[in-house]
Amino acid sequence: MSNIPAVITGTGSYTPARVLTNSDFERMVDTSDEWIRTRTGIRERRIKEDGIGSSDLAVEAGKKALARAGLEPSDLDLLIVGTVTPDYPVPATSCFVQRKLGAFNAAAMDVGAACSSFMYGLSTATAYVKSGFRKRVLVIGVESLSSLTNYADRSTCVLFGDGAGAVVVEAGENGGKQGVLGFALHADGRHTGLLWVPLGGSVNPIRSGNVDQGRFFIEMNGNEVFKIAVRAMVSASAEVCKTAGVSVDDISLFIPHQANIRIIDAVQKRIGISSDKVFVNIEKYGNTSSASVPLALDEAFCAGRIKKGDLVLMVAFGGGLTWGAALVRF
Ligand code: ACO
Repeated sequence: MSNIPAVITGTGSYTPARVLTNSDFERMVDTSDEWIRTRTGIRERRIKEDGIGSSDLAVEAGKKALARAGLEPSDLDLLIVGTVTPDYPVPATSCFVQRKLGAFNAAAMDVGAACSSFMYGLSTATAYVKSGFRKRVLVIGVESLSSLTNYADRSTCVLFGDGAGAVVVEAGENGGKQGVLGFALHADGRHTGLLWVPLGGSVNPIRSGNVDQGRFFIEMNGNEVFKIAVRAMVSASAEVCKTAGVSVDDISLFIPHQANIRIIDAVQKRIGISSDKVFVNIEKYGNTSSASVPLALDEAFCAGRIKKGDLVLMVAFGGGLTWGAALVRF
């Protein structure tokens, strides 16, 4: 990589006001607050209203990140949105975000790597900045998973929520020590069927003859995904630390994808990082896919858990399968 650091200069997040609690699910499907809490760590999640799109959530998170970075929307030269729940199939959600923000000097694109989309988007922004090709990038992870959730399927519906998180990535001073130190990014397309939405894409477009099959929601083999997620998040975390030449003891805060508290606990133990250095907010939001890591990152900032000079390890995992870890010096 070049000597131009890619520095995170602002974070922001947004979640819709409407709360769906575990008790609400007790009235919807055959489940219990106790099952959901002990198996997943989730107590409640936020759900957007109909008519609101992912771009609306993204804009709110983006505005906060820009304000914290001290930038105007017109200062941006690139806007990246990571999501599996775009406003529409065409055009890209980033174009709606660009318009609503008024960021008309920015090129705009979506990045799709399921729940790892933010991590892939952050790595893309870093590459643009380090190459000198762009200077001020807004990266947003946003999800309206409620639009892909089958609220009659107890094995998935209790897991997901809506939200957005954003970061501003700027070119720092040449040779500066702050910024993104490295990435470990991976995918394994042999497992595409473990977590997918079978209907609604180009292979099986929604038609009047198949719409009643109802398979336009997320379907997941939870047990298999669970096992692979733990292994993948551990190995990506170890890889990025090794590549950057840092030890686990150097890490100030660990921000894992918030999919399941048991996954987070297993990863934390296997990495060997102390539990007080792990940021967890899954109880409030459930699994918000692409929004999970940047939403947690912003909450960690707001809670004073990240200070100048801190080394933060972030790791995400999702459908594809895809996963990735990033090390950032703040
Ligand atoms: N309430 C009550 N019982 C339930 C519920 C529920 N909501 N859901 C499933 N059960 C039942 C099952 O039917 C099963 O019953 P049975 O034993 O009679 O067959 C029993 O609970 C155990 O089911 P499991 O699937 O084995 O439960 P598990 O402990 O594996 O938890 C879960 C399921 C929470 C989905 C877990 O497997 C998981 O978190 N997987 C990983 C998900 C993940 O990490 N995704 C990340 C990428 S996806 C993304 O981020 C968008």
